[in-house]
This record gives sequence, structure tokens and C-alpha cells, in this order.
Amino acid sequence: MTQAPARPIKAVAFDAYATLFDVYCMEALAEEYFPGQGKALTVLWRQKQIEYTRVRSMCSQFRTFWEVTRDALIFAARALQLDLNDYRRQHLMNQYACLRPFPENLATLQALKAMGLPLAILSNGTHSMLDIAVKYNDMKDLFDHILSADSVQKFKTSPEVYQLAVDAFQLPASDILFVSSNAWDACAGTWFGFTTFWVNRNQQPDEMLDITPSATGALLSDVLTYVRGLHA
Ligand code: LAC
Repeated sequence: MTQAPARPIKAVAFDAYATLFDVYCMEALAEEYFPGQGKALTVLWRQKQIEYTRVRSMCSQFRTFWEVTRDALIFAARALQLDLNDYRRQHLMNQYACLRPFPENLATLQALKAMGLPLAILSNGTHSMLDIAVKYNDMKDLFDHILSADSVQKFKTSPEVYQLAVDAFQLPASDILFVSSNAWDACAGTWFGFTTFWVNRNQQPDEMLDITPSATGALLSDVLTYVRGLHA
């Protein structure tokens, strides 16, 4: 854990992929199709997916996160010289409809909700991708808002995307805790003005961006400890 802000927060917004939902769980299917290359494919796929969101946002060439994700998969397979036929592509993409949360996530979300905090998802994902993941995991009642970059036709780290949480909660950014396991997302959210929590699941070093998230932990459950500390 790192520095604590002076006052309690009033709402919590979560990044979706890699924070609420484990995106590397498609590695098993990738490994089945491409023995020995499943990990390499999923890592490059995710890396390209994020890269394409940035390039498209910077150049005002928006495509939905679904399309960006598909294009990133095609690129990653080509780069690794894997035979990604239509059947495999569709099945790997369909894994996005059945992503599972990390083990500690449901209990953490329920506990935050029980504290009376409104909760949101704030994601690059399309409304339909997010709705499916939330329904599939019976998480519908936990969230007051499901906020998609689709609404502003830009991706994170564009401030317009983070602004969706301010508008939805009707709260100043600093009263909102933004939680992401992507360090770049947590840093950009801090620049935006959110109180932020970086879930550093893979023991990554701090980003060299002249900004640090308000707090850091290893698991989503550490968010609960942090929020309880603020409200004590
Ligand atoms: C998201 C990606 C960045 O859910 O994980 O927005």
C-alpha cells in the first residue's frame, strides 16, 4: 500500500479486463489450438489490443473494442506464424463472452457494495461485451453503472472516457476511487483527478510516468482494506 488521500471516497469505478475479468484465461484454448504457443499468443494479443486502442484514439479512427480485439488477434497470430482459421478465431473471440473474475473479486465487490458505495465498470469494452461478462458471472446487481468507451468513441487514456464516471456518479473525480490492474490506466486515472488504486497482480515495477497511483496492492481484496482504512 502507498499514500492515502485525506478523505473517504464516495464511489468506486473498476477497469474490466485484467482487473475484474481474467483475460489470460483464453490461454488454455490458445494452447489447445497452438501447442507451446498459447501464452505467447495471448500476451501478444493483449499487447496489440491495447496498442490499437491508443493508435485509433490518437488518430480519431475509432472502431469498437470488439473489432480492435479481433484485429489484434489476427495480427498476433500472423506475427507468430500460427494458422488462425475462421473457426479458431471465432472460438478465441467467444472466450470474451465467458471470462471469469479473479477468485477474490466477487467477495470484494459484495463487501464494497455492503458499505453503501455505488460501483461502476469503466472500460474500453463495448456495452454488449461488458453486459455479457456481467450476466455470465451473476454480477448484475453489484453495479450501478456499466460505462463503455463506446459512448464517447474514444479509448482510455482519453479524459473523455474517465469523465463518464464523473458524469454517472455526479461526483468530483477525487471522490471516486478508480481501480485498475493496468498501471498505465491507474496512472492516467490519477492524472485525470481520480483517487486511484493499482492492483499490481504481477509484481511489476512502477511506471516511469512522473505519477503514482494513490495506492497499490496485489489483489482486488486489498482495495477493500484500503477503503476501510479511509472510512475508519
Ligand atoms: C478495459 C481494458 C483497458 O477494460 O482493460 O478498459
